[in-house]
Amino acid sequence: MKEKTMQVAQGQFHLQRFPLEKGETLRAWDAADEYLLNDIAAKLELADNPRVLIINDSFGALAVALHALKPSSVSDSFIAQKSTSENLILNQLAEDSVQLFTSMQLPAGQFDFILIKVPKTLAFLEDSLIRLQGTFKADTQLIVAAMVKNLPPSVWQTVERLVGATVPSKAIKKARLIYAQPDSERKVLINPYPVAYQLENTPYQIYNHANVFSHKSLDIGTRFFLQHLPQDNKYQQVVDLGCGNGLVGLMFADKNPAAHMHFIDESFMAVASAQQNFTRAFHQRSATFTVSDALSDVIADSIDLVLCNPPFHQQTSIGNHIALRMFQQSKSVLRTGGELWVIGNRHLGYKASLKKYFSKVEQVATNAKFIIVKACN
Ligand SMILES: C[S@@+](CC[C@H](N)C(=O)[O-])C[C@H]1O[C@@H](n2cnc3c(N)ncnc32)[C@H](O)[C@@H]1O
Repeated sequence: MKEKTMQVAQGQFHLQRFPLEKGETLRAWDAADEYLLNDIAAKLELADNPRVLIINDSFGALAVALHALKPSSVSDSFIAQKSTSENLILNQLAEDSVQLFTSMQLPAGQFDFILIKVPKTLAFLEDSLIRLQGTFKADTQLIVAAMVKNLPPSVWQTVERLVGATVPSKAIKKARLIYAQPDSERKVLINPYPVAYQLENTPYQIYNHANVFSHKSLDIGTRFFLQHLPQDNKYQQVVDLGCGNGLVGLMFADKNPAAHMHFIDESFMAVASAQQNFTRAFHQRSATFTVSDALSDVIADSIDLVLCNPPFHQQTSIGNHIALRMFQQSKSVLRTGGELWVIGNRHLGYKASLKKYFSKVEQVATNAKFIIVKACN
C-alpha cells in the first residue's frame, strides 16, 4: 500500500485508503477534493469562526485538511469514518478535531459552510439535502463537488429542487463545483425515505433507507439467491454479510426458525433498514445488527453459515477486492464444517476465487446471469 501526499491551500496531508490493501494504486482523494479545498480556502479565512459541515467525505481528505476549523463530518459509511480517524492519526492530528456523525443522525444547529461530495446514489443525495433543511441560514454557502463524470444533470437539478438556485464552476482537472444558495422561502420538504415495497410471495414489507442497495425493488440476483437458501437445523449462528436491507437473512430466518441471525454491513442506513425489517417480521426474535467492515468484529470459529451477495465497488471505484476480503475472513470465522454461500454474476468468477481459500467449493445453482457457490473447509 502507498501513502500519498495531498497538497492543497490548507497544507500537505498524508492520506491512505482504508482498509489498507497490498499494492494499492488508488489515492484517498480526487481532483474534486483538491478543487473544493483550494476554492474555499480564501472564503474560510474571511469568515469569523465558521461552522463547517462535510457530507460524504470518501476517506477523510476534506475533514483532515479542514481539521483546524473543527468540522462536523456526516457519512453513511463506517469505512469512511474509520478512514477519517486513521488519516487524522497519520497526520498527528487530534482525533477529536473532527466530529463524526452517521447519515441517520445529523448534527444540531446551523452551518456557515456545507461541503458535499456527490454520493453514488442520487436517492442518498436527495435524502441528505432534505435532512439538511434545518441547518441552512440565509447566508449558508452550500458547495457540491464531484468529478464531472459523477455529475449528471440530475445532480444539479436535485440541488436546485431541494436547496435553491445553483451556479456551476468551470471544470478543473475533470472536477467541477456547484454553488447553491439556500432559498429561505422554500416550504418544508417531506422526506420520502425510507421507502417500502412488498416482498413478492411473502407477507413482508421491506423498508429501505435512501442509500440501501436496490432500495426501490428486489434485485434480480438477490431474488435468485432467495430461491436457493438452505434449510437445516445445523445452521445455528448465521451471518448475512453485506446485508443491505437484510432480505437474505430475513428469508433465511423465515425458513430456519431456530437460527440466530447476525446482520452486518458497513452502511449505517443498511443496518438500520435490516433491523427495522427483521423486527417488523419477527417481533421478539433476537438477532444482532452490526455496522462494521466485513467480518472484522466476528469471533473466529463461531459461525455455521455466512450468506453473502458481495459488493462490487467501494465508493466510486469498482473491483472485487472487498469480495475477496469477505471470502478470506469468512474462512476464519466459520467453524469446522461451516459454509459460505455466495451469489454473483457469472462473469465475476467467484467460484475460482473461493478455491484460493476453501478446500471444497461447489455450485449450488446457476442461471443465464448468476451463479450461487457453496464453499467449506
Ligand atoms: C450487492 S449489495 C447486497 C445487499 C443485500 N445482501 C442483497 O442481497 O440485496 C452489497 C452490500 O455490501 C455492503 N458492503 C460494502 N462493503 C462492505 C464492507 N466492507 N463490509 C460490510 N458490508 C459492506 C454494501 O453496503 C451493500 O449493502
